Amino acid sequence: MPVCIGEKSEWNKGYGSEVIQLLMDYAFEDGADRVFACSVGEHNPRCLRAFEKCGFRIVRKVKVRKGGKGKWECDLVVEQIRQRRH
Ligand SMILES: CC(C)(COP(=O)(O)OP(=O)(O)OC[C@H]1O[C@@H](n2cnc3c(N)ncnc32)[C@H](O)[C@@H]1OP(=O)(O)O)[C@@H](O)C(=O)NCCC(=O)NCCS
Repeated sequence: MPVCIGEKSEWNKGYGSEVIQLLMDYAFEDGADRVFACSVGEHNPRCLRAFEKCGFRIVRKVKVRKGGKGKWECDLVVEQIRQRRH
């Protein structure tokens, strides 16, 4: 579930978490018991906060290849389960 707002001036206005919430509602209405997102950069507190505001919790850290040759970073895997929804 990658989420990206192109205009920097529109960050921090609640749009990202609103989109995450809508996608989550769709997934749960479609019968999902849990939803994972795997694209939360370890050093991206804004993104993590947007997911946390929607009830997601960190469940794992994965090493991923990014950008140039041999460049690795960590992404956080976050999870929301149906029963924990608020
Ligand atoms: C990540 C992204 C989708 C989040 O959407 P958004 O609309 O900016 O996020 P929201 O406004 O819903 O929530 C952001 C929260 O992070 C908080 N925040 C911002 N910068 C922060 C920082 N440096 N440290 C901690 N929290 C921070 C905001 O205060 C807000 O929390 P609050 O409502 O409790 O005050 C958007 O910023 C974006 O597209 N960024 C560029 C692309 C990207 O990084 N995508 C993520 C990879 S998929």
